[in-house]
Amino acid sequence: MNTSRFVNIEDLRQAARRRLPRSVFDYIDGGADGEVTLRENVRAYQDIAFRPRCAIETPPPDLRTTVIGTPISMPVILAPVGSSRMFWKRGEEAAAAAAGAAGTIYSLSTLSGCRLEDVKKATPGPAWFQLYLCGGREIAAKGLARARDAGFSALILTIDTAVAGLRERDVRNGSKELLTRRIGPMLPYIPQFLARPHWLLQFFRDGGLMQFPNVMLAEGPMPYADVAAALEQSTVTWADLRWIREIWKGPIVIKGVHIGEDARRAVGEGADAVVVSNHGGRQLDGVHPTIRVLPEVLDAVGGRVEVLLDGGIRRGGDGVKALCLGARAVLVGRAYAYGLGAAGGPGVTRALDILRADIVRTMKLLGCRSLQELNRSLVDVPDAWMRRPPEGGSHEISAGARAARA
Ligand SMILES: Cc1cc2nc3c(=O)[nH]c(=O)nc-3n(C[C@H](O)[C@H](O)[C@H](O)COP(=O)(O)O)c2cc1C
Repeated sequence: MNTSRFVNIEDLRQAARRRLPRSVFDYIDGGADGEVTLRENVRAYQDIAFRPRCAIETPPPDLRTTVIGTPISMPVILAPVGSSRMFWKRGEEAAAAAAGAAGTIYSLSTLSGCRLEDVKKATPGPAWFQLYLCGGREIAAKGLARARDAGFSALILTIDTAVAGLRERDVRNGSKELLTRRIGPMLPYIPQFLARPHWLLQFFRDGGLMQFPNVMLAEGPMPYADVAAALEQSTVTWADLRWIREIWKGPIVIKGVHIGEDARRAVGEGADAVVVSNHGGRQLDGVHPTIRVLPEVLDAVGGRVEVLLDGGIRRGGDGVKALCLGARAVLVGRAYAYGLGAAGGPGVTRALDILRADIVRTMKLLGCRSLQELNRSLVDVPDAWMRRPPEGGSHEISAGARAARA
């Protein structure tokens, strides 16, 4: 497929919308509750204005950098995106191969449709493994050991998923009913698949599997239907870092940091990097957009570990704004998932090419020759973003306040 006709990420999004059944497209595209944070994540970059230096000769800027010691060709990493095998045949392998060819890191979700060993083999580049404690700690420990043995170089621990967010589009599209495998409840939701025969054919040719081979329960791979309950039953807590450290000796990245206080906690618990992330607006709706809280998190971390960011990045310029504020690199979720849904591996490659070209052009127009030259003086940021939040200590209610409420 000629992917050069996709000019920007929105073009890939529209192509994914045309190719995928509604429930699959909305699973990628949607967010929690009123989707306020989903929209704000994207919009908030507009609150930042660039302050370019002009009349400067700028040779093509060097985008190479390192993240927790891993060299990458540009400061863009693929975020963990679950169930990518629904978007394209062997979707996680296709996306990992495209990331590796582009010289960057692929992050594999615990909740993926391809075996983690196969995904690692598919990419010539580095890969990170994202951990959920689905199936309980013993099952998760086995998955972790497999990821270690397969050669994943860092672990992402996602901490913002105490329960699955309410994604209203998924409810309306019958995500629950479709997983019952009983014709009665499924029937009203079948037409959306019949309207996408190419996708349907590819899905069945790929095995039509609806299970997670990296969560191996006693009875076999965890089925899709069990995700919400599995997440709820085994919330990650800071205490888990201890046993995880026993198995995982490599770097640990804490993903899902919304405020300075949790960033400090992550550093204190020995994290090697944090990701400012609200899960792309898919979990707690009504939290600040990530770019808005990046200054607070950077301030709390004080340079002790690298700070990454994801959420709402649809153009390379958005990523440049985050880098100007001090992020080491950004992760993208939907930007590449749309590409995968639209055109498989070549669609992911196209998404990364678009973002790379955007970054190069933006840096040249800013008068910057290297990533090191990106700094705070190149962006105007609303004053409120830079103000320190009130010192509050723990969010837990004091004994006095509890008594007063009782
Ligand atoms: C379809 C989809 C599935 C996701 N699955 C996971 C997951 O399994 N684990 C995880 O830590 N984050 C998951 N995320 C969140 C992403 O890692 C990332 O935080 C988010 O997509 C960033 O926002 P963006 O999509 O606006 O780039 C998922 C996001 C999407 C869109």
